[in-house]
Amino acid sequence: MVEQLLKSTDDVHSSMQRLPEITNLSQINYSQYRKVSTKIDEFDRCLGGGIVLGSVCLLSGEPGIGKSTLLTQLALNFDKTLYVAGEESAQQIKLRAERIKPKANLAIINETDVDVISGTIEQFIPDLVIVDSIQTLQTSDLDSAAGTIAQVRECAFRLQKMAKRLNIPIFLVGHITKEGSLAGPKALEHLVDVVLNLEGEALGEFRILRCSKNRFGPTDEVGIFEMDEAGMKEVENPSKLFLTNFKAPGSAVAVILAGQRPILLEIQSLVTKSSLPYPKRTGVGIDNNRLQLLVAVLQKRINLPLFDQDIFINITGGLRVFEPAIDLGICMAIVSSHKGVAIAPKTAFVGEVGLLGEVRGVRFLEKRIKEAKKLLFNNIISLENAKSLFEATKLAQL
Ligand code: TYD
Ligand code: MG
Repeated sequence: MVEQLLKSTDDVHSSMQRLPEITNLSQINYSQYRKVSTKIDEFDRCLGGGIVLGSVCLLSGEPGIGKSTLLTQLALNFDKTLYVAGEESAQQIKLRAERIKPKANLAIINETDVDVISGTIEQFIPDLVIVDSIQTLQTSDLDSAAGTIAQVRECAFRLQKMAKRLNIPIFLVGHITKEGSLAGPKALEHLVDVVLNLEGEALGEFRILRCSKNRFGPTDEVGIFEMDEAGMKEVENPSKLFLTNFKAPGSAVAVILAGQRPILLEIQSLVTKSSLPYPKRTGVGIDNNRLQLLVAVLQKRINLPLFDQDIFINITGGLRVFEPAIDLGICMAIVSSHKGVAIAPKTAFVGEVGLLGEVRGVRFLEKRIKEAKKLLFNNIISLENAKSLFEATKLAQL
C-alpha cells in the first residue's frame, strides 16, 4: 500500500516538468516597485507619482488626439529611450521631436516584428520603451495579420514579460475609433499594469489624461494639458481656462471634481421650440440619460414647460463630466436659457439633483467651495443654502 503510494507520487513528480518557486510575503521587497518621475507633473499625477520600473502602460485615444506627441515629450525626458515607430517614419518623428525640443535626441527603430524589437531592447537596455502603436506589431509565430486581436494580445504579452524581466517600463500606444470600438486596447486592458486614456476634442486645445486602471496607485486622478505648437503644455490652473467671460442666458458655472482637484467649468444650454414630434435632448460632455432625467425633474418639480422644447447642453473646453455634482448646474443652465434670463453674476453651482427636485450633498463640498471663492465667485449655491431646485432658482435670480 505504502509502496503503491510512493510510486504514485513518483509519477506525479515525473509528470511535472518544473515546480514553481514559492515566495513568502516577507521575502518580497518594495524596491522593485520604484517609481521614477516623468518630469511632467500632470503625467506624474495621473500615474500616482511616476512610472513604475518594469510596468507596461497602455495609452489609448482617438487618432490625432496627441498620443505620439505626449509620449515623444516623455521620451525626451529620459536619457536612453527607445522609440519603436511602427506607424511613422523616423523623419516624421524627428520633425515632431524638434517641434517639442530643438536639437532633440532620441533612439528610433522602424520595426514591427515584436521578436526583433525584443532583441533590440535586450541589447540596447533603454530606460524607457515607447511602442507606437501596438496595433502595428506582429509576430511570425501567428498566422493572423497585424492589428488583429490575437496579434495585439500576443505582442503585448511578450512585451509585458520582457518589461518585468529587464525591469524596464514600456508604454504602448493603442488607437480607439470615434465609435469607441477599441480595435485592440480593450482587449489588452487586463494584460497591462496601467491604462491611460487621452481625451478631448481633436479641434479644441484641451486634452485630459485619465487613468482607468493602475496596479500601483489610485485611478481617480486626471492630468490636464493644452495642445500648442510646441506640444502638450501642462495646465496648472484649469478653472481659469474652462471659464469664459462671455455671460448670456443659458450659461451656468459648476464646480466639479477631476480626481482630487476641484475645477470650475461652464455649462452652456440652448432651449428652443422644437418642430419635431420627439424634441431633441442632446448633451455634449455629459451623460444623455442623466439629461433626460433632469429635464423630467424640471418639468414636474418646478413646472418648466419643456415638453415641446429642443434642449442642447455643452460643456465648454471639451471636458466630459459624469459626476452627479454637475446636476444643479445643468438644471440652472436650462432654466436660464428657457427663461432668457442670465444667472446672477459670480454664481457657481454644486449639487446633485434628486427625483423629488431636491438638492443633494456631494463629496468634498468644502474643497469645491474654497476653489470657487478663490476665483472670486461669491454666490455659491449648494445644499448649504438651497434645499430644492426652486430655492436654487431664487438664489440664482432666475
Ligand atoms: P499626434 O501626437 O500625432 O496624435 P496621435 O498620435 O494621437 O494620433 O498629434 C496629432 C495632432 O497634434 C496633429 O494634428 C498636430 C498636432 N500637434 C500640435 O498641435 N502641436 C505639436 O507640437 C505637435 C507635435 C502636434
Ligand atoms: Mg500617433
